[in-house]
Amino acid sequence: MSYFENKLYHVVTYGCQMNVHESEKIRGILSTLGMLETEDIDKANVVVFNTCCIREGAEDRAYNNIAALKKSKQKDPSKIIVVCGCMSQQKNGKYNLKTRLPFVDVVIGTHNINMLAEYLKKRVETGKRVFEIIDKPTADMDGGRCIRDDKINAYVNIIYGCNKFCTYCIVPYVRGREMSRPLREIYQEVRDLVQNQGYKYITLLGQNVNSYGKDLKEKSSFSVLLKALCQIEGDFKIKFMTSHPMDFTDDVIQVMKTEPKVAKALHLPVQSGSSSILEKMNRHYDIKHYMTIIKKLKRAIPNISLSTDIIVGFPGETEKDFNLTLKLLKKVKYDQVFAFMYSPRSGTPAATFLDQVPDDVKNKRINKLLRLQKLIQKEQTKKYFKKTYDCLIRLEHGVAVGITDGGKEIYIPNYKYSNQNYFAKVQVEDIRNHKLSGVIK
Ligand code: SAH
Ligand code: SF4
Ligand code: F3S
Repeated sequence: MSYFENKLYHVVTYGCQMNVHESEKIRGILSTLGMLETEDIDKANVVVFNTCCIREGAEDRAYNNIAALKKSKQKDPSKIIVVCGCMSQQKNGKYNLKTRLPFVDVVIGTHNINMLAEYLKKRVETGKRVFEIIDKPTADMDGGRCIRDDKINAYVNIIYGCNKFCTYCIVPYVRGREMSRPLREIYQEVRDLVQNQGYKYITLLGQNVNSYGKDLKEKSSFSVLLKALCQIEGDFKIKFMTSHPMDFTDDVIQVMKTEPKVAKALHLPVQSGSSSILEKMNRHYDIKHYMTIIKKLKRAIPNISLSTDIIVGFPGETEKDFNLTLKLLKKVKYDQVFAFMYSPRSGTPAATFLDQVPDDVKNKRINKLLRLQKLIQKEQTKKYFKKTYDCLIRLEHGVAVGITDGGKEIYIPNYKYSNQNYFAKVQVEDIRNHKLSGVIK
């Protein structure tokens, strides 16, 4: 029997969907060692912190929570603490994990989580701390066991890394260059998830999904991949994130329009409403280009649900630049906006820009933006009236609910619901207090 057999593990995850999915792979690796999952971090024999460093706050949160485990480790020195993910891959991060957290046993980066079992064994066998940060992936990150939390939506990686180097962003430094998975491999994984495991949504993951296939020997593209996946038989839908406005091409709009299996929802980060800020961000597009895409999307798919990311207080952002962002929100009318205060990341160009915006200004701006977006969203509820949406039908607290591709709930009163989780068309008949209700069509 191996050392790890029947011992307990606990995984803590920070950051984006990419990390959420990688934690599912980590759980797969630990369960293959014979370990069992526990919700109690203090009881766990192995604790893994899968970290994020996109903003300073994310780093602080992870660091403080790791540091808080010191007592638990003192009580049980055999407890193994692992730190992995973007924060440990970072070259000049805020915290030096090796020296500041001497009770951490294993530190690995983003390119070698697939080797976790070997590192754990090494820790037990040698009694020494293990530090393994490598620059590039050396082996396939997929294909192993994966323990997914969600039973309805499954994440699937399609492309790793990012080549964009937006001046504020740490991701290209901690995730390496773009690397697409072969189409056949993705196809097989999705088919298994849909046909053998009953998943209703497949969310394709990549920092820039629109770059898919450019680096493959057998050249491919994101729209080719989408079309191929739509050939898989079954009652399911495909979502994807994240799209980059520079690489978002008309063929993708066409597939979104014509393929019923592609969800009518899109997350298209704009970052700022000011073209001069976009240039300083190295985003490779201006607002005119962005608005052209939005117009095409709305024309092709009238019911589309749109969401975006915004950074407020990027270096050099003036009141005028910021007002252009507010103007953009009023124009596009997103269903959801994720707004962040700019956070300087060491090693990125923008961190050295001299015209940093003071924190109190960032604070004021983000609050103003969020207030505006709240009003827009309330106003937006009206647009659902009498419209029909293809929804996933579920039972919530005894009432049937249809969930739109954009995640909006439509209550379906008096509906006899027999079989859980299937897609059907729902027409909105009533809106009260911003709550929607409707009937199955
Ligand atoms: N690859 C995706 C997502 C990257 S990270 C994309 O290109 O959109 C998710 C979001 O975090 C970004 O869209 C951006 O809005 C935000 N972000 C990234 N770096 C940041 C920083 N240094 N400060 C504040 N927000 C940041
Ligand atoms: Fe970061 Fe830009 Fe790459 Fe997105 S596209 S991960 S924001 S560098
Ligand atoms: Fe964070 Fe890394 Fe994702 S920095 S946002 S976990 S790619």
